[in-house]
Amino acid sequence: MRPRVYMDANATTPLLPEVVEAMRPYWMERFGNASSIHLDGQQAHAAVDRARETMAGFFNCHAAEVVFNSGGTEGDNTALFGLLRPGDHCITTSIEHSAILQAAQRMAQNGVETTFVDPAPSGLIDPAEIERAIRPHTRLISVMLANNETGVLQPVEEIGKIAGAAGAFFHIDAVQGAGKVPFDVRRFGCHLCSISAHKMHGPKGVGALFVRRGTPIEPLLVGGSHERRRRAGTENVPGIVGLAKAAELAMLSLEDGTIPRLAALRDRLEKGILALPGTGVNGARQSAPEGRHENSPGQAQRSPGKDANNDLAPRRGAANSFVHHNLGAPAPDFGTWESANPIFNDCHPERPRAQRGGVEGPAVASSNGIPVPRVANTTNIWFDQLEGEALVIALDLKGVSVSGGSACHSGATEPSHVLMAMGLDRNRARASLRFSLLKTATEAEIDYVLQVVPQAVEHLRALSPAAAGTLG
Ligand SMILES: Cc1ncc(COP(=O)(O)O)c(C=O)c1O
Repeated sequence: MRPRVYMDANATTPLLPEVVEAMRPYWMERFGNASSIHLDGQQAHAAVDRARETMAGFFNCHAAEVVFNSGGTEGDNTALFGLLRPGDHCITTSIEHSAILQAAQRMAQNGVETTFVDPAPSGLIDPAEIERAIRPHTRLISVMLANNETGVLQPVEEIGKIAGAAGAFFHIDAVQGAGKVPFDVRRFGCHLCSISAHKMHGPKGVGALFVRRGTPIEPLLVGGSHERRRRAGTENVPGIVGLAKAAELAMLSLEDGTIPRLAALRDRLEKGILALPGTGVNGARQSAPEGRHENSPGQAQRSPGKDANNDLAPRRGAANSFVHHNLGAPAPDFGTWESANPIFNDCHPERPRAQRGGVEGPAVASSNGIPVPRVANTTNIWFDQLEGEALVIALDLKGVSVSGGSACHSGATEPSHVLMAMGLDRNRARASLRFSLLKTATEAEIDYVLQVVPQAVEHLRALSPAAAGTLG
């Protein structure tokens, strides 16, 4: 039987063998509680300390600034619940993961106003829009590093500078960017940064939150004095060890040619699928009319003071009332990988120079426009005249795992809030699929997917009366 082809790495990834091996002793002979004072406890404690050092290298921070937790959702929730108080204002984007969006909605019930900044049609957030949304009482800005559905990388460094100038705290949800692009919380200028092990070949249910020294975060969980009183609960020692091993391997993969190889595979896949009529990529290019400087001066500008309450609801499912707020300043130069991922230099002392940046950029296939920076493993493609879910099932039956939108929302019938926020209509958003490659992806897997996707698309379109005669 043909092995399955897993192209849903943004949902989760398998453990690498080295990660399993690193974790194994901490379930068995080294099972101690890291808080116990006897030898068993000390062994566990030492393992957590080593993992903390590794993660400090990964984030480029001090070991004391690493808080181990249960993953991305907890990190995201902690950033908002831990910093925001009634009367505060928070800025985030309408394309965040639900761990941020729903936390913001809950904070709204507690008297926190939130502005949700929309992306441009390319999926990029315009830093000028973030700046425009700032108010005197803005306490927190939270923007993701890479979008889970499109892979689009956001200009977090620019946003970090804006937050710094405004005296606001800055949180980055880096769950989908971590391990895929050079990483440096100092360079990003953030106070908080969430990552999750299972998105980078580590175990599920464990992650870390970078908390910059002095950030007055209230813990989400209270009880013991674990993690310097920032996250109570007996440490998940095997999980923490697995996270650190996965992070170590991810850092190596940024230097060993994995990323350009992955980008080339992704681009070949994308190009092959785009040869089909009625297809296109969501979030690959920014077309000339979308940049900040090209919008008509008469286009609506969000008034930070005016629409606070409207802002409480992300524009999910509101394609008709969708307005882009991208006015004024010149368009950023995101045309090259280097401009989106500058070489980092303000780094953890133990971090080798080569890990700090300079990764060859993923090329972008598809049509006209300026390439938008994306993580190398992701492409999100729309297929006109078919239902995305039907294509997911058809491909599953052929042994290919992909996702129709965010896996965290699977089962939901609503079209992706990310694609809707980018201005897609409901049908096109519903007819979009995310292909997210594992770092172990092969040419043979791409060959197979390029064989079965056209067959499945043709078959489904043949069944669709709407497609007849429209896609010649
Ligand atoms: C961007 C982003 N943030 C947060 C999360 C939640 O992470 P976790 O599964 O570790 O809770 C995910 C998971 O898909 C994600 O993609």
